[in-house]
Amino acid sequence: MDWFELVASRHSVRVFQKTPVDREKLQRILEACNQAPSAGNLQAFEVYITEAVSVRRALARAAWGQDFIASAPLVLVFCSDPDRSATRYRDRGRKTGNALALAGPLSDRDTRPGRISPA
Ligand SMILES: Cc1cc2nc3c(=O)[nH]c(=O)nc-3n(C[C@H](O)[C@H](O)[C@H](O)COP(=O)(O)O)c2cc1C
Repeated sequence: MDWFELVASRHSVRVFQKTPVDREKLQRILEACNQAPSAGNLQAFEVYITEAVSVRRALARAAWGQDFIASAPLVLVFCSDPDRSATRYRDRGRKTGNALALAGPLSDRDTRPGRISPA
């Protein structure tokens, strides 16, 4: 598949199978995330992983009632890290790097970066 075919076949998914996500696939996804270009190559974000139903529901609520989020067997939450961004871009980095701060509703148990929580 070439790049144009890949782009043409991509679409947003809002209905999910209940099957747990294979850990090798998850690992590959996280490695792909690490290869994404970022300002100053700082990778100024953290990825939080959860399978916990309570956290998935909290995320759905935090996203203004988008319940399909809770129906996914596993959710990755991408949060900007304004402090890391500020190490190079100072206050400008801190302000612009804060667009994805969705971690608030998550419990402490499930919010460590890269942690895979039990269902
Ligand atoms: C910045 C951004 C925010 C988005 N936010 C949501 C969202 O909150 N909920 C949702 O279901 N889709 C969201 N989307 C997905 C778009 O609705 C979707 O990409 C668009 O409808 C085109 O559909 P497609 O991705 O299947 O081609 C978002 C997309 C972008 C780029």
